[in-house]
Amino acid sequence: METKILKMDTAADEKLSVAAQAIKNGDLVAFPTETVYGLGANGLDEKAAAKIYAAKGRPSDNPLILHIDSIKMLAMITDKVPHMAMEIMAAFCPGPITMIVPKKIAVPDRITGGLSTVGVRMPDNDIARKLITLSGVPIAAPSANLSGRPSPTTAATVYDDLNGRIPYILDGGPSDFGVESTIVDCTESIPVILRPGAITKEMLEEIFPEVRVDPALSGKNSVPKAPGMKYRHYAPKAPMILLKGRKENMLAAFTKELSKCKKAGQSVGIIASHEVTNLLRHSYSYDYGSQNDLFHIAADLYNALRYFDDKPVDILLAEGTTEKGIGLAIMNRLKKASGQNILSAYKNN
Ligand code: TXA
Ligand code: MG
Repeated sequence: METKILKMDTAADEKLSVAAQAIKNGDLVAFPTETVYGLGANGLDEKAAAKIYAAKGRPSDNPLILHIDSIKMLAMITDKVPHMAMEIMAAFCPGPITMIVPKKIAVPDRITGGLSTVGVRMPDNDIARKLITLSGVPIAAPSANLSGRPSPTTAATVYDDLNGRIPYILDGGPSDFGVESTIVDCTESIPVILRPGAITKEMLEEIFPEVRVDPALSGKNSVPKAPGMKYRHYAPKAPMILLKGRKENMLAAFTKELSKCKKAGQSVGIIASHEVTNLLRHSYSYDYGSQNDLFHIAADLYNALRYFDDKPVDILLAEGTTEKGIGLAIMNRLKKASGQNILSAYKNN
């Protein structure tokens, strides 16, 4: 199959009707959102959903989230909207947040992996919402990467992974946030974050008196409630060690680890902040932005994780961030990308 990249100049572009027609026909279309690129199909069509799993090589027990263009469309997905979900909608939608709500029978089991709940989100991207409107159905979309790989934040990275597997990619330029949406379980009495994202715990705490984080996210031995969070994910090709700790201790920790790896004869790739890469001056380095600009780091994170894939490195050393604000999402992805291979960067380490 030939994969066509449709470059979008505006959300009113005629190419959107071609893409919407493909969705109506039960075919796949990759499209931009404010978080990462999604791989879309008609969310109420079981056969179309099956094509998503086949194109990505995704395990069938990992449910898909449904994308809507308006609150009105929610009625196609659920007839029991929890009050909590309405409050989240009012405060943050459209935006980078997914709500887990009870599902209607019309939502196929193939979408939810047999669960009685479904994830729903309204993306803050005009091309995405217009595509949904023109298609007339909620669009099921996981991130548009091969299963296990870092999520794509540009049309070119979607193409790298899915060329030949899907008919269309809508190119709407780079994603704004670069990490996937925050997932909140709205089926309990207290909101529970199942996956951290750009809508932070602190932001949710401004509208709810209590917010929990799924204990499985802190690496405890319980099974995560978002099935997708149990897989090794976001992984670069080379093994990766994550250095975690205070930012002022990072340079010393990198210097030490780098010399250890060099002594062992390993060729090392460094993924770190401007502050560290500038002083370390190692030849294979990816500068992911300033330690003081977490939004920049989030937006560039998956580029960093893909950067070394075609470089001759044996091992990657990556710099961790704080776990406050969007830092919780950055660290969640880095921990998973490292396969929980984490070193504490203390001063005299
Ligand atoms: O930002 C995003 O959310 C992007 C863009 C494309 O919208 N999508 C995305 O989809 O990240 P995906 O499939 O890569 O991740 C969805 C996550 C998976 O970890 C899945 O297990 C979880 O959502 N999930 C889906 N339905 C669920 C449910 N009913 N209960 C718990 N977790 C669910
Ligand atoms: Mg994904």
